[in-house]
Amino acid sequence: MNLIIDNLDFHQLVENSLNSILIVCEDQTIRYCNKAGLRLLNLTSLDQILNKKISQFLPPDLHDMCNEGLTRVIEKQEIIKEMDIKIIKNHGEVAEVEIMTIPFYFENKVLAQVIIQDITKRKIAEKRLKDREKLATLGQLAAGIVHEVKNPLTAVKGFLHLIKESHNHPYLDTMESELEKAFQTLQNLLQVSKPDLLDEPLILIDVCKELNSILLLFQEKLYSVEVEMDLRDSDKRFYGKKNLLLKSFFNLIKNAIEAIMDDGKIKIEHYYHEGWIHIKVSDTGQGIPEEKLVLLGTPFYSSKPDGTGLGLTQVFTTVHEHGGNISVQSVVGKGTTFHIQLPVKMN
Ligand SMILES: Nc1ncnc2c1ncn2[C@@H]1O[C@H](COP(=O)(O)OP(=O)(O)OP(=O)(O)O)[C@@H](O)[C@H]1O
Ligand SMILES: [Mg+2]
Repeated sequence: MNLIIDNLDFHQLVENSLNSILIVCEDQTIRYCNKAGLRLLNLTSLDQILNKKISQFLPPDLHDMCNEGLTRVIEKQEIIKEMDIKIIKNHGEVAEVEIMTIPFYFENKVLAQVIIQDITKRKIAEKRLKDREKLATLGQLAAGIVHEVKNPLTAVKGFLHLIKESHNHPYLDTMESELEKAFQTLQNLLQVSKPDLLDEPLILIDVCKELNSILLLFQEKLYSVEVEMDLRDSDKRFYGKKNLLLKSFFNLIKNAIEAIMDDGKIKIEHYYHEGWIHIKVSDTGQGIPEEKLVLLGTPFYSSKPDGTGLGLTQVFTTVHEHGGNISVQSVVGKGTTFHIQLPVKMN
């Protein structure tokens, strides 16, 4: 056994590790990076990373912490245990990683060994599960409320009808139309909270064609809003529930238009990448404050005077029902991007 260890090619072992491993000097320069590290950071050659500062790959708010951490590891030879942080890849993409830093002894010197594990996929899966659980609980609750409220309202509607036959009063019409609105809200709620009730068949969908046709529905609102369509890979088809998806795209575009106060721009993107169809709806509207982002998709959450707050619930439920992911990026005063990914299954 010892014989094997003695003869092991440790360099090969480290190079092929699934974890990214970097060696960093006290002045923050990177002196070694294994293959997983290059892959993680979207780099193609070592020239792009060797002798560069590690802070180049960290968001500005982590620079001080990085400095302090390296001093602790190199000067005091402490271990900095696993923690979750964000890193910035080449081309600016952000990844969530778990990082640990330990002293690395080399030729009488102490350097820092940084071990990084990409946890972006795990984080997405966790968020998806949380969203699903949230929606499932709210869905059950909502379906229960709909059921309980619908029965008495149906009775009221019946009696109103009877009264109208023998009496004539203008308030009766108002009552009836208000009652209709209540029924519509209940219907919407039922639809978004229990989408499986809509037993739509899966059909082959030309997403680009549908995006173009949905935009036509907003013609009269588009006089002050510029629309850019960037529809790539338009030959890709996707099996899905057409009406549910159309409604989702409608809800996203409607929100984008409503977020733009005066003049602004909406961009709709479509492309295919490694088995997934990506659809992005971006606007240059008012943006969403960070603390409100977690509320998106919650039934009845709305900041608009006459919004139902069911639009995004419908979008989130539909995307999840299709096995997809949805993420939101927003900067207040600058705009918002909703990014949907739908899996293209070949069945
Ligand atoms: N593109 C966006 N820009 C800024 N805020 C948004 C955007 N999309 C959604 N929001 C915020 O999320 C809230 C919920 O959106 P959702 O579509 O669920 O409901 P709503 O738009 O308020 O009502 P409805 O869709 O019934 O008209 C909105 O009220 C708004 O505050
Ligand atoms: Mg909406």
